[in-house]
Amino acid sequence: MDASNTFDKRSPSSGVEIGDGVQNHHGNREPGTIARPANKQGTKNSPSASLLDRLYGPITQPLEAVERLLRKELQSPFEDVAALLRHGVNLGGKRLRPAIHLLLADALGEVTNNNVVIATVLEMVHTATLVHDDVLDNALTRRHVETVNAKWNNHTSILLGDYLFAQSFRLSATLDNTRTCQWVGEAARLVCEGELRQVLHRDWLELDEATYFAMIRGKTAELCRVACSLAAAEAGRNERDIEAIAAYGDHLGIAFQIADDYLDLWGDDGAVGKTLGTDLQQGKLTLPIIRLLETATSTVKQSVLEILSGAPDSRVDRIRPLLDKSDAKAYTANVAAEYRDRALAAIANLPEKDSRRCLTEIAYFSVDRTF
Ligand code: IPE
Ligand code: IPE
Ligand code: MG
Ligand code: MG
Repeated sequence: MDASNTFDKRSPSSGVEIGDGVQNHHGNREPGTIARPANKQGTKNSPSASLLDRLYGPITQPLEAVERLLRKELQSPFEDVAALLRHGVNLGGKRLRPAIHLLLADALGEVTNNNVVIATVLEMVHTATLVHDDVLDNALTRRHVETVNAKWNNHTSILLGDYLFAQSFRLSATLDNTRTCQWVGEAARLVCEGELRQVLHRDWLELDEATYFAMIRGKTAELCRVACSLAAAEAGRNERDIEAIAAYGDHLGIAFQIADDYLDLWGDDGAVGKTLGTDLQQGKLTLPIIRLLETATSTVKQSVLEILSGAPDSRVDRIRPLLDKSDAKAYTANVAAEYRDRALAAIANLPEKDSRRCLTEIAYFSVDRTF
């Protein structure tokens, strides 16, 4: 995020082995590529796909294994359910949480089959939260395609999210210890708590920054944090090291969500690939709006309050001019950059490896991203 005003910038149970080739959506074998399907974000050679290929370079093979395991775990003998699973899961996304976990595993030693299972569990939980979140936000587009609630209906989304949570815990129970199950369970609880608090604070115009940060730490940073702490624990690190490395995910997750909230107001929905503007439509106050309200004169504050109580669909267009006249955009970008820098500090002492360099780049990407 640019403070000057723009954002441009096999496991035994799984039977999956790292390093096998992978079938692309045309059914061709493609060793050495990430299996992202045919939506815009994942189209081979698209700028976003080549950026992610670079960021995820050292973990290409384990990420392919994650894709295979996701497909293997999410099958149904019933064609209508199978079609839903394909749509809801096999459609790409950035795979950020699996990537962070695998890159850290590589940075701390080597990627094992356990890491592939854990990375797959993380992506299932993440996807479950997105499928449910799209119901909460009444969103029509996700990962460049119709949301499950738009293509099917809310009931289907609720049950698909539940299915993904259930399958993620079944898969994590195939590991040789209960740590993943416990830690991911706790992170999922905190994600739900964060989302619940956000729903309960809807239209609450007194929302302060401390409450906003606590909510985004829950709904977004906790899953990034557990991606890191599990990598450190799997690598045999002591409790102190685990906490230190977990800080990368915590700070990165916060920076990532601030950037997401920025994109919701100023992003290009074609590039982002999901319905934007839903935060204001749903009465969710994010950092730019909180800053605007904190710094506005009483006249401007009155206009903001009128906009926020007016028609949901017009809120973003009406509030942008007020935001642009304030320091909210630059302020939001600066706060995101501060969290990025804290994330970078948390990995500064890791061994110099390509994977560490990728984690550094991912921290920059999380803030400067356009998708
Ligand atoms: C979206 O996460 C939800 C947030 C935490 C902001 P991502 O932006 O990682 O979504 P996908 O997985 O790439 O679709
Ligand atoms: C929710 O935040 C993120 C989750 C943890 C599910 P958002 O509502 O901002 O996520 P998007 O923008 O829909 O991806
Ligand atoms: Mg949402
Ligand atoms: Mg958002």
